[in-house]
Amino acid sequence: MADTIAVKREWADGATLSDADYRAGYERSLADPEGFWREHGGRIDWIRPFTRVKNTSFAPGDVSIRWFEDGVLNASANCLDRHVAAGRGEDTAIIFEGDDPAESRRISYAEALEETCRMANVLRADGVKKGDRVTIYLPMIPEAAYAMLACARIGAVHSVVFGGFSPDSLAGRIVDAQSGFVVTADEGVRGGRKVPLKSNVDKAIAIAAKGGQDVSRVLLVKRTGGEVAVDPARDVWWHEARDKAAATCDPEPMGAEDPLFILYTSGSTGKPKGVLHTTGGYLVYASLTHAHVFDYRPGEVYWCTADVGWVTGHSYIVYGPLANGATTLMFEGVPTYPDAGRLWQVVDKHEVNIFYTAPTAIRALMGQGDEPVKRASRRSLRILGTVGEPINPEAWLWYWRVVGEERCPVVDTWWQTETGGILIAPLPGATALKPGSATRPFFGVRPELVDAEGQVLDRAAEGNLCIADSWPGQMRTVYGDHERFEQTYFSTYKGKYFTGDGARRDADGYWWITGRVDDVINVSGHRMGTAEVESALVSHKAVSEAAVVGYPHDVKGQGIYCYVTLMQGEEGSEELRKELVGHVRAEIGPFAAPDKIQFAPGLPKTRSGKIMRRILRKIAEDEPGALGDTSTLADPAVVDDLVSNRQNRR
Ligand code: WT7
Repeated sequence: MADTIAVKREWADGATLSDADYRAGYERSLADPEGFWREHGGRIDWIRPFTRVKNTSFAPGDVSIRWFEDGVLNASANCLDRHVAAGRGEDTAIIFEGDDPAESRRISYAEALEETCRMANVLRADGVKKGDRVTIYLPMIPEAAYAMLACARIGAVHSVVFGGFSPDSLAGRIVDAQSGFVVTADEGVRGGRKVPLKSNVDKAIAIAAKGGQDVSRVLLVKRTGGEVAVDPARDVWWHEARDKAAATCDPEPMGAEDPLFILYTSGSTGKPKGVLHTTGGYLVYASLTHAHVFDYRPGEVYWCTADVGWVTGHSYIVYGPLANGATTLMFEGVPTYPDAGRLWQVVDKHEVNIFYTAPTAIRALMGQGDEPVKRASRRSLRILGTVGEPINPEAWLWYWRVVGEERCPVVDTWWQTETGGILIAPLPGATALKPGSATRPFFGVRPELVDAEGQVLDRAAEGNLCIADSWPGQMRTVYGDHERFEQTYFSTYKGKYFTGDGARRDADGYWWITGRVDDVINVSGHRMGTAEVESALVSHKAVSEAAVVGYPHDVKGQGIYCYVTLMQGEEGSEELRKELVGHVRAEIGPFAAPDKIQFAPGLPKTRSGKIMRRILRKIAEDEPGALGDTSTLADPAVVDDLVSNRQNRR
C-alpha cells in the first residue's frame, strides 16, 4: 500500500483486532446489520432487552431513525451502577486535573454514582421531570459529568452549552430548548483566568425571559468562591442542597428512543440547530467506538482534552468511557498553562495511556518546539488520537515522531455532532496508517462519494461525503423541527445522509477528509456558520452589510475573514475594527473573534443580488490571480478594490 507508516514497536502483535478482524467484521456489519448490531447492542445493560434492532429510513419526506426501539434502559445506570454492582466501585471513574497544576483528584465509580444520585435527587426536588430540558453551563469539573448523568438518571434531557458562549448565545439555546432549569458554577478558571459563568447566566436568563422562556431554577456549583449575585427565590447552591439530598436514586426506565440530550451546532444557514440524540443506539455506538478506536483495556487511563460543551466531550469523555468502565481524565485547563509542557506533564503525572486531542492544539504546541514535550517521559502513552478538523501531514508526523516516538498509533477520527460517534478512523494495530488520512470506515458505516449531480463515484475519487445507511449513533431529529432535519441532511442527495464535508478516496480505499463544502467554518476545532458571524456583525450600528469566509490559518486551521460594508457616513478605522471584533466576541463568544476585517465599499454580487463567495474566499486566501470568471457580477469594478485592500498577504 502506498505511503503507509509502520509502528516501530511490534504493536500489531499486542493489538486486540487485526487487519483481518477488521475486514471480516466490517464486511459482516454491512452484509448483516441486524445480526451485527443485535450482538453489539448486548454490550450494555438493558432493563428490558430489545427484540427489534434496526428500523430506519432515509426516504425523502419520511426520514425516521430508530434503533433497538422496544428496549428499555438507563444511560446513567450503564455508566455507573453496573460497574459498582460488578465489584468495580473502587476503580477510578474520573481523574480531575485542575487548571492549577497543584490540584487533582481521583473519583471512584462508587463516588461518582453517589454524587450523580444526589444531584438527580436535587433536580427532581426542584421539579425536573422526565422529558424536561436542563441547560448545563459548567466548566470542566466533575460536576459537569454528574449533571449530565443526573439528567440521564431521571430521564431529563440535557443541553450542555460550552462555557465560552456569550449570554446571548446561551439565551438562544435556553429559549429553543424551552429549558426552565440551568446548572452552572460561580466562575470557571482557564489558563489562570476567571470566566464569569454565573453572571453570564443571569444575563442570559433576562434575555431568555424576553424571548418567552422563564428559568425557574438555577443550581449553582461553587468552583472559585468568587463573589456572585444569588437570587434566593431562584438560585440554589449545589453544596448546600447536596448535603440534604439522599445518596441513592432509582434510575428511570427509558425507552431506547427516548431523548438523552440536545446539543446545539452550527450549520450553513439560520440559527444553531438542536441536534437530538436518543438513549439506546447512542450509548451502544459511543461505547463500541470508544472500545475499538482507542483499543481501551481495563485499568488504562484515557484522556480526551475536549470540553464537555462539545460532542467530543459527550461521547468520549463521559458516555463512551464510562459505559466501558474506563478511567477518564477531565482537564479544566488549557494546553499552554502554566507553560507549553502542561499536557505532557499531566500525561506523566497520571500515567495516561490513551491521549485524544485536536489538530489545532498539536499545531500550536508544535510551534513551541520539541523541548516542552521531551521534558516529560511520556512512557505510559500507547495510543494518540486527533479529532475536529483535517490534520495536515506535517502536524500528524510531529505528533507521531515527537510525542509518540513512533511507537503510538495515531488515530485520526472523523465524525460530527450529528453522527454521535466516530465514523471513519483507523483501528490501532489493525489499520496501516497514512498521515492526514482518517483511513477506513468503522463497522456498520457506509460512506459514499457523490458528485454535484448526485452520481455515486466509485474507486479513487473526490466528491461530497455522504453516508448511505443509518448507524446507531446517528442524530434522530433537529429538536422541534423535523422538517429542518430532513431539509438539512437528506434533501441534497435524496436517500442519503449528506455530511457537508468533501472527501477523497484513494486507490487503497482510504478516506481523506478535505473540509466543509458548505458555509460552515472550523476555527480551532470550533464549528460555526459564516451566517452567524455575519448576523453578529450587521447587528452593530455602523455596519450595513457583511460577508464572512474562512481562510487557511497555520494554527487554527481556518481563520475568520470578514468583509464589512459600513453605513453612510461611517469611517473604517483601526478603532472601529477593534470595536467590531469585541462586538462579535460579545454576541457569540470569544472563540468567534474575527481574525481579519476588511472594510469594503461594495461586495461582489450577481445581477440577482447574490454574493459570490467564491471570489471572497480567493481574495481571503491571497489568491487574487485565481478569481475565475467575474463577468457575471453586477459591478465587476468592486473586485479591484477588494483585491487591492486585502488583509491577508502571505
Ligand atoms: C466537522 C464536525 C466530531 C467532533 C468534533 C467536531 C470536521 C471533525 C475531523 C477529522 C477532518 C474533521 C468536519 C466535520 N472534522 N473531525 N478527523 N478530519 N475533519 O464536531 O463541531 O460537529 O464538527 O468537523 O468538517 O463535518 P463538529
